[in-house]
Amino acid sequence: MVCSALLGFAVAASLASVLAEFNPLHHSGPASPYFDAPSQLGISTETPDGCVVDQAAYILRHGSRYPEPGSFAGWQALFNKFQGASYTARGPLAFIPSWTPPIDDPPHEPLFLTSTGAGEAFALGVDLRKRYGFTKGGDGLTVWAASQQRVLDTASYFLHGYLSQGNYLTNTSLNRGTTISLPDSVNFTFANSLTSSNSCPLYPTGDKSALANTFRATYQSNIAKRLNHFLNGLTLNATDIGPMQDLCGFQTEVNGDSRFCDVFQTSEWLDYEYAHDLNYYYGSGPGNPFSATTGFPWLKAVTDLFALGPNKTTPTGTFTPPPLLMSFTHDNNIPPVLSALGLWNESFVSPLSPTHPDPRRHFHASYLVSFFGHIALERLSCGPPMPDMVKHVVGQIVPVPGKGSNTKKFVRVRINNAPVPIPGCTSGPGSSCSLQQFEQYVNVNRAKASGDFVTRCGLQNVKNASSTLNFFTNLPLNSAIQLPLP
Ligand SMILES: *[C@@H]1O[C@H](CO)[C@@H](O)[C@H](O)[C@H]1NC(C)=O
Ligand SMILES: *[C@@H]1O[C@H](CO)[C@@H](O)[C@H](O)[C@H]1NC(C)=O
Ligand SMILES: *[C@@H]1O[C@H](CO)[C@@H](O)[C@H](O)[C@H]1NC(C)=O
Ligand SMILES: *[C@@H]1O[C@H](CO)[C@@H](O)[C@H](O)[C@H]1NC(C)=O
Ligand SMILES: *[C@@H]1O[C@H](CO)[C@@H](O)[C@H](O)[C@H]1NC(C)=O
Ligand SMILES: *[C@@H]1O[C@H](CO)[C@@H](O)[C@H](O)[C@H]1NC(C)=O
Repeated sequence: MVCSALLGFAVAASLASVLAEFNPLHHSGPASPYFDAPSQLGISTETPDGCVVDQAAYILRHGSRYPEPGSFAGWQALFNKFQGASYTARGPLAFIPSWTPPIDDPPHEPLFLTSTGAGEAFALGVDLRKRYGFTKGGDGLTVWAASQQRVLDTASYFLHGYLSQGNYLTNTSLNRGTTISLPDSVNFTFANSLTSSNSCPLYPTGDKSALANTFRATYQSNIAKRLNHFLNGLTLNATDIGPMQDLCGFQTEVNGDSRFCDVFQTSEWLDYEYAHDLNYYYGSGPGNPFSATTGFPWLKAVTDLFALGPNKTTPTGTFTPPPLLMSFTHDNNIPPVLSALGLWNESFVSPLSPTHPDPRRHFHASYLVSFFGHIALERLSCGPPMPDMVKHVVGQIVPVPGKGSNTKKFVRVRINNAPVPIPGCTSGPGSSCSLQQFEQYVNVNRAKASGDFVTRCGLQNVKNASSTLNFFTNLPLNSAIQLPLP
């Protein structure tokens, strides 16, 4: 009783402190440096008592990076505006006359990973080695990545963290990490890709992300008007607000300067966040009818491997993938997997209103496509939890709960660390879904809702188009390159 009362107090206290300390970096959508998302339904992030994870699959956005050339141009325009006038600035804007864009090497920096991004990937590598312990220190690991530089670099930093034990940085011939580099954003790899929407010709017809701009137009000029009270001789307008809000997340992850985070009020951050929600929900997420179609092949491949169990390959496989399947890609390739899984699609908040944010919605771009945002599927092997008293017989190691005989298998999904239940399938430990029901859910319900890739994408007449993702088990691929860890 005392314990649970204390726990209740602790939860209430931490909720209160979350509400008190509003953090714009947790509401900056794709400009948020990685953070663990809050558990929206209060499910513990720990592996449930009595269970071990024996297989896991992750699909991740690359880590924090420098801006794209387009956003960089916006920062330069802002800098030119701040420098091109004589004015006074006070209060939260007093710093703008001395502000310079956080790029000191323009030919090299835009697009590439920042040290924050490298750190995010390395830290997850360390975490997953400790969390799962799937492979021995000396074993290698093969991971998969779309081939743009920042994605490959994320994979390398992850491997360095994961393989740290016995990973000899000073003698690269002893490194055992391998990245399978898959063609990035091309239209000829179809479903067998980590950027499959680029191979779906009808996908752009379902993209309604322009709704985000319509929503931005409802609040940006009001923010500019409010801020103009702090300026004399310079007038901000709607165009300036987007880059200024982006610079909160970006400048913080690039060089640690978070002064733009202090410029805006909570309601202004919530509007900024909702514009990102609309952009992803209607662009690459559940609001685009082709989203689930392009995310399903990855989900299907992972489900088939979970059904087989760890260290097994498919009947047509030429390669046995590791128990940890890591897939590195770009922001817009993460929401399709969410759609294929049928998550965050409760009828009372979905589809998202183009004009009125519903605070009860689960779909938050900040919790999914922050830098290094990811969806993880874990296969759990569970037995009865460790009893209070354990009997030991000389020389006989007692199996860890979940590793003994008579275990049952379950699946659960974690998005930016927070567990997210499978609709209608939550009776397992930690609100997980039994493996058998999960297979049924994916192979029947979600297959039907997602549709066949070739058919839905309008590729029936393309000779070699395929609806199957088999790069985990069929190596080498003629279009892929195997990169040893540098
Ligand atoms: C899977 O294979 C790895 C080595 O490749 C080994 O360390 C691990 O124990 C195996 N796991 C299972 C469940 O067989
Ligand atoms: C690196 O490791 C290889 C393989 O064990 C060994 O042959 C080589 O001498 C090592 N190189 C250095 C510089 O230690
Ligand atoms: C891929 O793009 C090329 C160049 O735009 C085009 O010629 C070709 O038809 C496209 N292929 C498919 C399958 O859409
Ligand atoms: C399909 O054919 C195109 C053109 O011949 C080729 O470039 C591509 O690699 C093929 N795709 C697959 C998945 O085999
Ligand atoms: C805002 O001002 C800039 C010049 O500082 C101008 O180029 C831009 O078109 C203006 N935007 C709007 C929405 O008026
Ligand atoms: C979301 O739910 C609606 C209503 O049940 C359904 O029509 C739609 O297909 C679902 N979206 C996805 C991506 O499953």
